[in-house]
Amino acid sequence: MSTTQTNKIETIKASSTKINEVDFSNLSFGSVFTDHLFECDYKNGEWQKPVIKPYAPFLLDPSTRVFHYGQAIFEGMKAYKDENDDVWLFRPDENYKRFNTSAVRMAMPEVPEDIFMSGLNQLLQLDEAWIKKGKGNAMYIRPFMIATGTGVIANPSDNYKFMIILSPVSSYYSGEVKVLIAEHYSRAANGGIGAAKAAGNYAAQFYPTNLANKEGFQQVIWTDDATHTKLEEAGTMNVFFRINDTLLTAPVSERILDGVTRKTLIDLAKSIGIQVEVRSVLVSELVEAAKNGSLKEIFGAGTAAVVSVISGFSYQDVYYELPKIEFTMALQLKTKLENIQNKLEEDNFGWTVKI
Ligand SMILES: Cc1ncc(COP(=O)(O)O)c(C=O)c1O
Repeated sequence: MSTTQTNKIETIKASSTKINEVDFSNLSFGSVFTDHLFECDYKNGEWQKPVIKPYAPFLLDPSTRVFHYGQAIFEGMKAYKDENDDVWLFRPDENYKRFNTSAVRMAMPEVPEDIFMSGLNQLLQLDEAWIKKGKGNAMYIRPFMIATGTGVIANPSDNYKFMIILSPVSSYYSGEVKVLIAEHYSRAANGGIGAAKAAGNYAAQFYPTNLANKEGFQQVIWTDDATHTKLEEAGTMNVFFRINDTLLTAPVSERILDGVTRKTLIDLAKSIGIQVEVRSVLVSELVEAAKNGSLKEIFGAGTAAVVSVISGFSYQDVYYELPKIEFTMALQLKTKLENIQNKLEEDNFGWTVKI
């Protein structure tokens, strides 16, 4: 290992690379990590000196707060390499802002912009060889923060660890996605933590999603907790419904994550003349539209899968199959978004940021 000082961040380089052990044509999403990670600890009320160092496990005391009280948040973003070998981030400011929104809601310290952005940039530069060119290929970036204070006492921790790890990914193909509309379980409630990217939100989804899986559905579309009449999110994605030629999606709220892909698709759709309505979409409206043939498409939107087409949904034990359409809005929007992310099409929105 050799230690060099790159700008402000101390960098301890790995003595060898694992890159030659990786089959980039056969990557399973989120399972391979690059040679280095970024780390910055928070103690005595302030952020300490950040470091970039070899990716490795680390030790924590069994009483560490994150294990007991779940103070943990994360982000999911991607970097892309264009044909000239330049590396681009997509709307990183949005992820940064959302990370700190999550931190505040979980009583955790906000991460200063300089630590987040320089950590991200310098880590990506160091492990740049792991980012492959070509549509579908990207570097999935996982910034996260955990409570590292010790003691089994249900109070916010004094100490925290902020880290960034990198995982190369290729096209995410989820196969056929049939969804179950939630009638009993909820992902989030008013006044809760649904709008935060808090680890516990995901743990809470696993059991009802497992039940849905057993019935042959890949995902659950969550409804509002109070009445289960409004359609909100699908798994780790925001969700869009096309009725006739209008795209509908729920407004963000305390219960819904403010997805970067969601807001991007709304702007892209409007820019190509698609009518978009951001409003509560009722389950009854969806069932009615499925019955009268005006429901054309449902798709999820999120960083991992970009756009994930839903082939049908079940509600009150009745399965509604969606029509097979040749030119879908889902594909049109996905193509446009991936072209912008991969610098194959002009970015008129200023969303792409070079590292
Ligand atoms: C619950 C939830 N909703 C929506 C999204 C989509 O958000 P984004 O487009 O920012 O990835 C995600 C993924 O991050 C998510 O976990």
